[in-house]
Amino acid sequence: MNIVIDDKMTTARGLKGVVVGASAISLVDGENGRLIYRGYSIEDLAEHSTFEEVSFLLWHGRLPKRQELDALRKQLAAEYGVPSWIVDILRKLPATMHPMDVLRTAVSALAAADPLTEKKGREENLAKAVKLTAKTPTIAAAYDRIRKGREPIPPDPTLPLAASFLQMLHGKPPAPELARALDVILILHADHSFNASTFAARVTVSTESDMYAGIASAIGTLKGPLHGGANQKVREMLGQIHAPENTARYVKERLAIGERIMGFGHRVYKTTDPRANILRDKSRVLGEITRKPVWFQITQALEEAMKSEKGGKLPPNVDLYSTSCYEYLGIDSDMSTPMFAIGRMPGWTAHVIEQLNDNTLIRPLSDYSGEQGLKYLPIEKR
Ligand code: CMC
Repeated sequence: MNIVIDDKMTTARGLKGVVVGASAISLVDGENGRLIYRGYSIEDLAEHSTFEEVSFLLWHGRLPKRQELDALRKQLAAEYGVPSWIVDILRKLPATMHPMDVLRTAVSALAAADPLTEKKGREENLAKAVKLTAKTPTIAAAYDRIRKGREPIPPDPTLPLAASFLQMLHGKPPAPELARALDVILILHADHSFNASTFAARVTVSTESDMYAGIASAIGTLKGPLHGGANQKVREMLGQIHAPENTARYVKERLAIGERIMGFGHRVYKTTDPRANILRDKSRVLGEITRKPVWFQITQALEEAMKSEKGGKLPPNVDLYSTSCYEYLGIDSDMSTPMFAIGRMPGWTAHVIEQLNDNTLIRPLSDYSGEQGLKYLPIEKR
């Protein structure tokens, strides 16, 4: 709703509180700390579903029947591979390049490998959604190995996406409980209504640009530390804190100098992010399995310290506990945000499809605060 004051519209800094469109994909209930994908709570999906099944749910609006799920698994597995020239690009990129920048670059390049890139129909876009979801783990794992001087490992089409990713990353089959933990983490990241990166994707395709362009915009947007990039910052913070007993002092000192503590606060949630509740438990269990409870313990100490400093006004968000989980899964700190991107791919692509289903150009107004009526002065007279 626009509120008209005199002949001017009000401005909403950062679009805070502004509803910019309708969507049937996910509900973020900030007051009650609920997240729902297409009618199903994430608690229910994290307990019973798989990342592949949730992808179908987000794309098609309903849970698949057995045959439909089997068919989607086959389609995804058939698309795990990337052209060899994409791997050549990864080899040529500097090993110092941030994996999110690599992902953005490789997704742009993937557009050239897809004969459907310029086709905007629903079926063609669903095919692209499958390709993007299947190929981004392969790109992320391959780059991580290449930058460490190792050979990329081909994806295994017999494995689900999460297990195949861990195998490509580490070069050995993952323990089933670790593969399932990653599967759940991906489910929890799969969608989150009109967050900044999803909105960026919708803005891009609203110009009738293609899905690859929309997803490249989304990846660039997710990278920022106020959004998905927060998880890498949390990882770095856990390393700096080093032991649970250092946490309270660390938090006090950082807040005193006006720093934000990453992994806390949210534009929409007024209470604990429901994804953090599930991830807290996952982090605890993974700490026990890997016998390295310290990362879970520091994260828990962070939550307690922030509660005592902020009286519950800045509750934890998804990025707080996901990071210790990545540590337990042997995923490098700067690969944390690419993990978010891998999980968010079904959501981003579902939003692109929804946007194009009833498209209108997204083009807001600005409240011009610059000068007017200036006369051009030749350069020698300025
Ligand atoms: N630590 C310390 N202070 C904070 C934090 C924090 N994590 N978050 C917000 N504040 C303070 C902020 O400094 C401001 O204080 P003041 O009014 O005195 O200037 C006040 O709270 C309001 O902050 P805001 O930035 O105007 O509020 P917002 O609704 O735009 O913030 C946020 C949302 C996520 C950007 C913010 O909470 C933040 O920066 N959190 C840390 C980064 C983070 O964890 N991001 C991941 C979000 S969840 C994953 C995703 O979907 O992206």
